[in-house]
Amino acid sequence: MRIFAVSDLHTDFAENRRRLQQISSTSYSHDVLVVAGDIADDLRIIDWTLRMLRSRFGAVFYVPGNHELWVRGGECDSIEKFRQVLSLCDEIGIHTRPGRAGKNWIVPLFSWYESDYDQQGEADVSSLEGWADFYFCKWPAEVGSVSKYFLDLNESRIREYDGPVITLSHFLPRRELLPAVENLIFKGLPLVAGAVALDRQIRALNAVTHVFGHSHIDFDQVIEGVRYIHHAFDYPRGEGWSKEPLTQILGAEAQAETDHRREEM
Ligand SMILES: [Fe+2]
Ligand SMILES: [Fe+2]
Repeated sequence: MRIFAVSDLHTDFAENRRRLQQISSTSYSHDVLVVAGDIADDLRIIDWTLRMLRSRFGAVFYVPGNHELWVRGGECDSIEKFRQVLSLCDEIGIHTRPGRAGKNWIVPLFSWYESDYDQQGEADVSSLEGWADFYFCKWPAEVGSVSKYFLDLNESRIREYDGPVITLSHFLPRRELLPAVENLIFKGLPLVAGAVALDRQIRALNAVTHVFGHSHIDFDQVIEGVRYIHHAFDYPRGEGWSKEPLTQILGAEAQAETDHRREEM
């Protein structure tokens, strides 16, 4: 059994649906896929994408991203949409709750961004004018802090697990996972990228690996003992552009290494 990760499938683009369909329908039937959010906002496309992935992998773990919570027509609010996506996952057999993957546990963590992620206050607020979430997400007044609302949903998942823990979230749990503002194209990104309180949950879980999404800036680095991985399927980049659709985060060898490390501790 191998574990693969991906995020930001954005299959509302026909080209991304085509690229996704090219993933082998036979090679991954014993493997696990971790999907760190941003499939699409249209429930029919989310449904199509999750069914497709479910048919190709032994198991799929997933958390919704911000695009899933858009409610363009005003037919419901973003919390109701979140619940609809989770129900759809239950129906299809996609894991949104903690579950085993061989000796490992995979723990999905819900999240939303908050402005204190931009700890140095470097981001450019004026560049947020066109940020689509501000137009397409609708939060009921009783929710209060959206970031806290989602982090609170994780509390019952924070316990001891009898195996190495891999966590996943759509948003970024640490500022270091994003380049400095001068190196970002979108200078407002740190204001809508992550929540540092999320890292406290990851560390309370003793996670060995955390998979995140959202930034579309690939990352694979160990910080203070936790390996943080971001591998975006990404938006279509035009003719001649190609990228590995998935990244393998754990295989037979990596599993042996983890076991060895645990024995030494
Ligand atoms: Fe995305
Ligand atoms: Fe996102």
